[in-house]
Order: sequence, then C-alpha cells, then structure tokens
Amino acid sequence: VSAESQISVREYARQLIDILDQPRDTQKFRDGVVDAMTKLLKRPDLLVLGIDRLANHQPWSAFLYYDGQLSVVMSRIAMSQAVPVHDHGVVWEAIAVYRGSVNHRLYRRLDDNVDDGRQAKLELVEDAVLEFGDTRSLEPPADIHGLQALEEDTYIVGAHLGEFPVNRHYYQPDRGTYIIRNQQVWKGSPR
Ligand SMILES: [Fe+2]
Repeated sequence: VSAESQISVREYARQLIDILDQPRDTQKFRDGVVDAMTKLLKRPDLLVLGIDRLANHQPWSAFLYYDGQLSVVMSRIAMSQAVPVHDHGVVWEAIAVYRGSVNHRLYRRLDDNVDDGRQAKLELVEDAVLEFGDTRSLEPPADIHGLQALEEDTYIVGAHLGEFPVNRHYYQPDRGTYIIRNQQVWKGSPR
C-alpha cells in the first residue's frame, strides 16, 4: 500500500467533518463517506492505534478518534454475539468492514413510529455480506440494522456523529416488535 493512498486518522476525521457539514441526502455525501473510509481502511495499523473502549454490543472496541461529538471506533464482532437490531436516534452512523466479513441486515420502519416500546413493522431494505472495504452510511428512514460476524477475526470501523441515548430501541423484525432497553445491558452478556 502506497503512503499516498492511505491517510492519518486525523485526516480522515477532518474529511468526515467537512462532509458531515454538507446535506446528507445526496450522492455526493455518500461518495464522500466511502472515499474517506476507503483511504482509512488502507492503514495496516488500525487494530493497534486506538484507545480501549467499553462497547455496548461488541466484545472489544477502541476509539481511533473522539472529539466529544464525532467518534471513530474499531470493534471486533463475534460470531457468537450478533449485534442486536437497533436504530440510532438522531445519531449519524457509518460502518465499514476492516477484517473478516459480516452479515448486515438493513431495515426501515414502516409504521407510524409510536414510541411505546411494543410494535414496530420493519421492512428489510438490504441483506448483504459485507467484506473488506464495504461501507454503509445509515440514513433515515433506513437506519435500523443488525449484524453478525461470519468468520473469526472480524473487525469493523464505525463512525458516529452525536451521542446515543442511554435507552435505545432494539427490534425483533420477525415478530414485528421492539423493546426500549438500556444500551449497557448487553455488555458482557451472551446472546
Ligand atoms: Fe448501529
């Protein structure tokens, strides 16, 4: 990998901040997210650059960048621990695969969004196997997803703008239900 085609984490964050200041419902925005992520993923050292972080849904995670609003994190996804189907509230999120592969299911909510923690009708927008370099920017209303590693040593980069609420929405698409649950409840629990 040539030095020119990879970028520092700081330069990645700078590009992302510029992109995030622009309207997000455009192809230019999506292309910008993918372009910056593609350059970042070329770095061979992303598993050792970060500062350990206690993740909600993953067995290991580390901050590559954090400024109080934008965070860029590296996380290991376990084959035995599916990341439960969740939304992100007002937080923008993009994910990209760094090592291994994941089954990524993307949904959107079809009903009237009653926020009572009971019924939620979801439509499957995409069911895909994502591998190295594959990037998804989650944009409302299709910003509900769940993922599971398909092999050991699977790692993804996540970028988020904003802070997650403590109590999050977790969906059971097959049953048409969801629950409102403290996001920290998943920590360390088998699932
Ligand atoms: Fe997510």
